[in-house]
Amino acid sequence: MSSLSILACGVHKSFGTGAQRTHILKSAGLGIAAGEIVFLAGPSGSGKTTLLSILGCLLTPDEGGLHVLGHDVGALNHAQRTAFRCQYLGFIFQTFNLFPTLSALDNIALSLVMRGLSAPQANARSLALLEQLGLQQRVHLRPAQLSTGECQRVAVARALANEPAILLADEPTASLDGENGQLVLQLLTDLVRQRGMTLVVVTHDHRIFPFADRIVHLENGRLIRASKPGDLANLSTPKEQRHERNGATVCG
Ligand SMILES: Nc1ncnc2c1ncn2[C@@H]1O[C@H](COP(=O)(O)OP(=O)(O)OP(=O)(O)O)[C@@H](O)[C@H]1O
Ligand SMILES: [Mg+2]
Repeated sequence: MSSLSILACGVHKSFGTGAQRTHILKSAGLGIAAGEIVFLAGPSGSGKTTLLSILGCLLTPDEGGLHVLGHDVGALNHAQRTAFRCQYLGFIFQTFNLFPTLSALDNIALSLVMRGLSAPQANARSLALLEQLGLQQRVHLRPAQLSTGECQRVAVARALANEPAILLADEPTASLDGENGQLVLQLLTDLVRQRGMTLVVVTHDHRIFPFADRIVHLENGRLIRASKPGDLANLSTPKEQRHERNGATVCG
């Protein structure tokens, strides 16, 4: 258990009521090892964002257990869950969610000041991160003055700034062209590996699959393991053969 960052077992999630009820996740299970980079793939509407939101403690499953960093998330109340998320989890979204009136530097520094750092500390850490992401010439520009690829790099810097143990990204390359998508993923995965963070990425983008340690495919509300990029042919093997006994497991 201790080598696992995330362990989800028997997760059910449905939306709607009565005849309109749709079961999105059906006994989905997944174990993610500490430091692992896992991509969640699957058709549109298959529940990838729903699952990521559950793993990120933003959404509560109807049934099933979720342990994150050894904590039983189901046992936390709303306030405890929020505090847990702020302390240990970081998020990157497709549309960046940057403050439009703040510079790149201030977008990052603000999130650190809100977490208790002094302004000089927050500025120094933000600047260092922007430099690591190749944005040292862009620190004083606002989002509208940055390219989409640069905006996503600022969002990556902001998500990394608090040094979360786990980073969750929903379609982080969807707004980027192929070249910028590769660049952002290269920078993101390099920084995540340097820091020993766990990274979970929802993506449709096959071009970034090589950055994953493991790709997990969402199919009919369940998770099916594909060991490595290019290994999606494994998805047609019997379910029992796909289960693993080590820390990084699909336990649907
Ligand atoms: N709050 C909600 N209320 C009702 N239905 C919802 C809600 N959230 C998601 N759904 C439905 O659940 C299904 C899965 O949605 P989800 O956003 O998780 O899919 P996805 O795999 O991320 O799709 P995409 O690749 O298009 O982003 C969709 O049919 C969606 O309409
Ligand atoms: Mg989605």
